[in-house]
Amino acid sequence: MEKNLKLAVGSDHGGAKLKNEILEYIKKELKDHSADDFGGSESVSSDYPDMAAKVCEKVASGEYDMGILFCGTGQGMAIYANKVAGIRAVCVTDPTVARFTREHNDANVLCIGGRISGFEIAADIVKTFIGTRFAGGRHQRRVDKINDREKR
Ligand code: RB5
Repeated sequence: MEKNLKLAVGSDHGGAKLKNEILEYIKKELKDHSADDFGGSESVSSDYPDMAAKVCEKVASGEYDMGILFCGTGQGMAIYANKVAGIRAVCVTDPTVARFTREHNDANVLCIGGRISGFEIAADIVKTFIGTRFAGGRHQRRVDKINDREKR
């Protein structure tokens, strides 16, 4: 498992409750890593692209290793995040996909739906996602093709 990963985290109002629970979980159970919150609260309605932009810019610049975004479904966050160069965002609802998308796709932004996933499954998804390394090899060639597409 990688150590000392810097995680950029954000949400809109629809994902804020689960985000806060996961921030606590990272602090207590995943102590090797650190997470900073780039905004979004349950009590103030907000637009998910605003928080996705902040988090994705931090990851794309290399200042943070990975991003975790929460909205109602996770879908809007993922759609926005994938418009940012250098971001490979995935909306995940189970830990098996979290593992394979790290191993095969080198996904660097995880999106979770606060109205879809309960805390226990979300915590498993987060732990698996940040604890799994990209496998490289034949998968590197495929990820290179994704990255090449951004240049066109
Ligand atoms: C906000 O109501 C909701 O649309 C948002 O949280 C998200 O689910 C969008 O994808």
